[in-house]
Amino acid sequence: MTPKRTAILISGRGSNMRALIEAEQDTYEVVLVISNRPDAPGLDVARALGVEGLAIDHKPFGADREAFERAVDAALRARDVELVALAGFMRVLTPTFVRRWQGRLVNIHPSLLPKYPGTRTHARALEAGDAEHGCTVHLVTEEIDAGEILGQARMPILAGDTPETLAARVLQLEHALYPRCLADYACERLRGGP
Ligand code: GRF
Repeated sequence: MTPKRTAILISGRGSNMRALIEAEQDTYEVVLVISNRPDAPGLDVARALGVEGLAIDHKPFGADREAFERAVDAALRARDVELVALAGFMRVLTPTFVRRWQGRLVNIHPSLLPKYPGTRTHARALEAGDAEHGCTVHLVTEEIDAGEILGQARMPILAGDTPETLAARVLQLEHALYPRCLADYACERLRGGP
């Protein structure tokens, strides 16, 4: 079977992107990385790993989110992309884009969803006195961080943990979880799944 042609959308350092590229096997192949920030360090990482890195700056589009997304969509279609993985992509996508890619759009979120959608997940887990924390890979739907869960990784919160120590440990979990979930999901789709 042919691996699913996959694009990754980033905005920054791209450590999850790197994990996805380095782990790619026979179910998905990363053919494109797009950043909405031209100075994202992850773009150079992608290029160094032999993957096309494309900057599509959101700023010239101003408040017209859909025009920015049409440019992203055109780049994805021009490369026959079949799966899109968000990895630290800091733009909220409009319902138009999400509907167009529904079932083919995956995200990683640094909390055990449905707990703590949105931002400040590590601080909120600490403030709540949670005993455990982790990350979630999920399908993207119009409601933020609420789509079908594809996988989770969990870890204990330790005495003395801070948002920073939690972020560092969760990130390690993310790097293992995301490639596994993306490969499983690509495999499911290769077998004619959703
Ligand atoms: C990760 O913690 C991810 O869960 C969140 O943003 C961070 C991105 O980090 N959505 P990186 O760019 O993959 O290093």
